[in-house]
Amino acid sequence: MPYALKRLLVYGMYLVVWPFGLSSAIVYRLTGSEGIYDFSARLLSLIPGKIGQYVRAAFYKMTLIECHCDLMVGFCSYFAHPTSRAGRRVGTGSFTIIGTADIGDNVMISSRVSVLSGKYQHGAGGELVEPVFTRVSIGKGSWLGEGSIIMANIGEQCVVSAGSVVTKPMPSRTTAIGNPARFLPNERFASASEDGQSAHAQGHDPERRGSDVIDRRRE
Ligand SMILES: CC(C)(COP(=O)(O)OP(=O)(O)OC[C@H]1O[C@@H](n2cnc3c(N)ncnc32)[C@H](O)[C@@H]1OP(=O)(O)O)[C@@H](O)C(=O)NCCC(=O)NCCS
Repeated sequence: MPYALKRLLVYGMYLVVWPFGLSSAIVYRLTGSEGIYDFSARLLSLIPGKIGQYVRAAFYKMTLIECHCDLMVGFCSYFAHPTSRAGRRVGTGSFTIIGTADIGDNVMISSRVSVLSGKYQHGAGGELVEPVFTRVSIGKGSWLGEGSIIMANIGEQCVVSAGSVVTKPMPSRTTAIGNPARFLPNERFASASEDGQSAHAQGHDPERRGSDVIDRRRE
């Protein structure tokens, strides 16, 4: 779909989400409280299908530091904090939760992914501390596979394999494998660069799955 049409649809959804978006943004800016934002993000995550995606794009455009009309956030997925940034053509699957993150352009995040606000939100060494939210950046063109857990920065054009746990900064153009993840050059994974990167290039719809992506590549 052309960006201009997406923009029209997303701005149309402002009519629906403005009570949530405006109150979240005003209360957060005036008091620093994320209570209304948190309630709204979780509530709006429950709307299924395309309508849900456009509603969420409108809400996040009103609340996140950076967000574009081509953001697609899947069913039951949400940004946990309004301090995040999402670049152009960012998409998530379902049941994904994103902490305090700076996400580059063309990043595809699969379902059941957790992007944590760093490694030490509640301290380390057994003593609980007040939450500390560390920003995690996801470089442009990266693909975070199903069920992965991210707690360190990800470089550009990386692939995080399904179920991997990234605990250390990930160099650009590498593939993360396992728990804790080890990083191998992307060239070692021919199928990853074909599937992942071509899906980015052709526009990712997070609620469509593998066979649909293959169909799209044939279009
Ligand atoms: C990363 C990925 C693209 C690599 O695919 P591939 O190039 O076909 O790689 P292979 O299956 O040949 O695996 C190469 C090695 O990595 C290992 N490996 C691959 N994926 C792994 C994973 N998720 N966890 C642990 N090890 C993994 C394989 O066991 C193999 O190890 P070996 O060389 O010791 O035998 C793919 O495994 C993957 O995880 N894709 C993500 C799919 C997804 O999340 N889809 C969601 C919809 S968007």
